[in-house]
Amino acid sequence: MPYEINETMLSEERIKERVKELAEEIEKDFHDEPIVLIAVLKGSFVFAADLMRDIKSSVQIDFISVSSYGSQTETTGKVRLLQDLDTNITNENVIVVEDIVDSGLTLDFLIDHLRMHKPKQLKICTLLDKPERRRVDLPIDYVGFVIPDEFIVGYGIDYAQQYRNLPYIASVKKI
Ligand code: PRP
Ligand code: MN
Ligand code: MG
Repeated sequence: MPYEINETMLSEERIKERVKELAEEIEKDFHDEPIVLIAVLKGSFVFAADLMRDIKSSVQIDFISVSSYGSQTETTGKVRLLQDLDTNITNENVIVVEDIVDSGLTLDFLIDHLRMHKPKQLKICTLLDKPERRRVDLPIDYVGFVIPDEFIVGYGIDYAQQYRNLPYIASVKKI
């Protein structure tokens, strides 16, 4: 589709500030106990890297990779595991880190999958939440920003695998 990248929706500074606040909230909630972050590839790797560096308590990171079938911008609801964890999360304090929750189907699948390993706690942290698009109920523990139903890119989020490198978040407009 022909498109253009609009003006910034969330600046680098606003993101940075909010990520720091989330990290502080997490430290407090977990009383400085060790935490395992699980970043959902690929979109969340930028957020997870920044969040991790703002958490001062003991923190590990692992990655999990899933894919949803269907067209490039819409999920069909079928989620497939592409790469599993290699950390044992049994009895660990686990936080799944996402860049964005849209339909919620990716996380719905992942939560079921991760629960099987019996973590001590399983929390969800997302930088962005688009509640208008939700198709399943999800308990989200940490939300950076609630955003309107607009197509966005940057800070890890792609359009056809491009623009993940933008240090800010911008909306994309069809032209
Ligand atoms: C995006 C985003 C979330 C998921 C959210 O990932 O990073 O993981 O979709 O959508 P949902 O709530 O409707 O499931 P995507 O599948 O585009 O893969 P990517 O992270 O590799 O870009
Ligand atoms: Mn993703
Ligand atoms: Mg994507």
